[in-house]
Amino acid sequence: MRKIIPLFSLLLFIGCSKNLAPPTGVVTENAMVVSARAEASRIGAEILGKGGNAFDAMVATEMALAVAYPYAGNLGGGGFMVYRTSDGAVGGLDYREKAPLSAHRDMYLDSLGNVVPGKSTIGATSVGVPGSVAGVFEVHKKFGSLPMETILRPVIELAEKGVIVTEKQAVRIEKYKKTILQVNGDSTLFAASFKPGDTIKYGALARTLKRIAKNGRDEFYKGETARKLATFIQDKGGYITVEDLEKYQAKWRTPVVFDYKTLKIISMSPPSSGGVTLNQIFKMMEPYDIAAYGHHSVEAVQLFTEACRRAYADRNHYLGDPDFVDIPLEVLRNDAYLQERMLDFSFDRATKSSEIERGAVEIIESTETTHYSIVDGMGNAVSTTTTLNGGYGSKLYCDELGFFLNNEMDDFSSKPGVPNTYGLVGANANSIAPEKRMLSSMTPTIVEKDGKLWMVVGSPGGSAIITAVAQTILNAYEFGMSMQDAVNAPRFHHQWLPDTVTFELEGFPEALKAELESKGYQVNKGRTPITAKVDAIRVLPDGTLEGGADKRGDDTAVGF
Ligand code: GLY
Repeated sequence: MRKIIPLFSLLLFIGCSKNLAPPTGVVTENAMVVSARAEASRIGAEILGKGGNAFDAMVATEMALAVAYPYAGNLGGGGFMVYRTSDGAVGGLDYREKAPLSAHRDMYLDSLGNVVPGKSTIGATSVGVPGSVAGVFEVHKKFGSLPMETILRPVIELAEKGVIVTEKQAVRIEKYKKTILQVNGDSTLFAASFKPGDTIKYGALARTLKRIAKNGRDEFYKGETARKLATFIQDKGGYITVEDLEKYQAKWRTPVVFDYKTLKIISMSPPSSGGVTLNQIFKMMEPYDIAAYGHHSVEAVQLFTEACRRAYADRNHYLGDPDFVDIPLEVLRNDAYLQERMLDFSFDRATKSSEIERGAVEIIESTETTHYSIVDGMGNAVSTTTTLNGGYGSKLYCDELGFFLNNEMDDFSSKPGVPNTYGLVGANANSIAPEKRMLSSMTPTIVEKDGKLWMVVGSPGGSAIITAVAQTILNAYEFGMSMQDAVNAPRFHHQWLPDTVTFELEGFPEALKAELESKGYQVNKGRTPITAKVDAIRVLPDGTLEGGADKRGDDTAVGF
């Protein structure tokens, strides 16, 4: 694994335009994987080094994250992948979880119609039908070039050998320990105390992965693993049956593709809201020269915030599973409609969210997801975001099979129009129905510049995923930052409701916030976590790759 910044690359940048900043992140010549853990990036890169393509590396990285990053990496969750092949073909895979067959609109309400606290967030009742194993097998069936056994071998070895606990991981385990114990009792793997430097071995997960490597996708959805999983979840009071698992299918979707100035942005379509919302934000900003205002200038923050205000208002009302609801995508993505949405925007004062149409619909989502970006030596690009929803999902850990189960049912609106205990209020478009997929904010994205692959980008962070991805693209394209600097740069977030702008603690001067307040913006002065962690790759003009691995986590770029 080399770090190379050839002199001729640096010379190329001198005198070039604002969006050709010299690299400051890891640079490699041929191929790269950037993910939340070094172990997963290394395994993905190892598969690329063995002659595998970006899709083989996707399978390896996804499964390696399930071992090395159980906080969000998973077998018991789901995700979305957007790809661009070396010949410019694009596509998207939806391996989002779905509601079980027994699900119904009011399943999280009591007899008085009130949301039952915790039922959609903690333990077996919150689990949606997992999609990740179907997702990786679907990718492998369509694009894989190495045998599944070869791809999974290093992942299984990692699970057997164990993974060293990082400082950040030790903090996370401690934070969630009480609930993990409450859900699983004290004989579960994560009941033990782990210090930084300890090694956690995942023997049960290794055995599950071995069966999957041998028997294929059906092992998880129809075989011994399916039977054990359904029995386990039902014994714990949940709803998933063998029939639910048998019926699960990952689905190929046409991604959302739109132009922004000289960029072509390719992102995930519903049931993720990521691509549509990104499309709306960029198109509302496009008529303005945001670069001329300056990075984090009052005007740039205002413009971005006002575009987000309008885009999130639409998101929360209209979007849901396209197999169940009619989404007016042509209108929502129409340039004239989007310019009209900005007609009442003024740099003089903040628009009030209450003045923006689309009812009082507030969405608060879990933020613990994970993203990885891959480019292979042929120029194929893969952008994948995968999740258990909450940190360690539902906290329900199947010790026999070796993985956590998601609490993705909470991404539905449990009671449309009324806040649940976690402040989540959704619209009918995202109400619960059997076999429906819950709305997501995951935004795996690929960007072309002047017709060529330029960036692979995505993030965890719940509703802040979309703003983090948008700001990373703007940082590189409009504000001339390198990939690593674009990822490192402090971020802010606005999502219509609550009507506040949240700034990361470090990096935003008080004068900026004061000026925004004088224009009527409500600056969130309370706890202001922006939990997005962007992992991205930029293709440099000489064809080498620059990684942007988020310094906020243990994220790492590995390539050759
Ligand atoms: N569970 C987070 C998301 O899908 O956006």
